[in-house]
Amino acid sequence: MANWSLFGRRDLLGLTMTGVALGTLGPLARGARAQGTNQGAKLKIATIGAGREGGAIGTILAKQGHPVMFSSRNPDGLKDLVASAGPNASAGTVEQAVAFGDVVFVVVPYTAVEQIGKDHGKALAAKVLVMDVSNPIPRRDGEDFVKSVDAQGGPGVMTQKWLPGAHVVRAFNAIGSGQLTAEGHRAGEMAGVPIAGNDPKAIEVASALSRELGFEPVLVGDLAMGKYLRPGTPLGGVHTVAELKQIAATLK
Ligand SMILES: NC(=O)c1ccc[n+]([C@@H]2O[C@H](COP(=O)([O-])OP(=O)(O)OC[C@H]3O[C@@H](n4cnc5c(N)ncnc54)[C@H](OP(=O)(O)O)[C@@H]3O)[C@@H](O)[C@H]2O)c1
Repeated sequence: MANWSLFGRRDLLGLTMTGVALGTLGPLARGARAQGTNQGAKLKIATIGAGREGGAIGTILAKQGHPVMFSSRNPDGLKDLVASAGPNASAGTVEQAVAFGDVVFVVVPYTAVEQIGKDHGKALAAKVLVMDVSNPIPRRDGEDFVKSVDAQGGPGVMTQKWLPGAHVVRAFNAIGSGQLTAEGHRAGEMAGVPIAGNDPKAIEVASALSRELGFEPVLVGDLAMGKYLRPGTPLGGVHTVAELKQIAATLK
């Protein structure tokens, strides 16, 4: 059951974030708000995990003008990715990336998140936003692991438990790497992306970055609702903003 201590449910579903003031975040966020432009100072982005999804997200943001540091356990293997992402991109160890980023995207197999919290939790707690794009997937992570995550509140609640004090937002969990490029900044009505989080400022930054990735954010609730932000749920895949709001209103 979601904990609506921060917002009323209606308030949450009404926030597609277009009306959320970014003024408190200063020029960084105001620059990020300018969809598809490189105006204003740019948040430094780190990715932990630079495979299909982390690579795609970091590449888009690097091309939007953000300094991006990709990381994995084997940063030497990221040279091709860095070259294709362009001059704003670099690669480093996870420790270097966490130190580099104003915002950190966690885009790894979900089984890795607990250890990342043990190794880097203190540094991650100091970031304005930790974007949790990772999912527990039975065929990759094991049925028992996924059942255990779900029994403890699902991804979102568990990410927050493993990254204590971090300003976590879940987003882009069920938008595939190919869909990011194909549907981001698409012609006509912008595709929506469901997001879930507890911290208002982190939600604002996540919303601005979602727009830079070419998707209109729809806040569906707090991190307890993060359990629905994964492949195979009604919110999974690409939907319009109106569809996401309609689906989210049926979930609890
Ligand atoms: N693929 C998609 O379309 C998609 C869409 C939405 C969400 N997701 C989610 O995003 C996450 C990543 O998926 P993916 O498809 O991008 O996987 P992937 O292509 O296998 O990439 C995983 C990345 O994580 C790194 N990694 C693994 N363990 C790590 C650790 N302990 N510390 C640091 N880096 C680590 C890997 O590099 P090293 O092994 O070299 O460390 C690799 O760069 C998953 O949780 C997935 O469910 C994926």
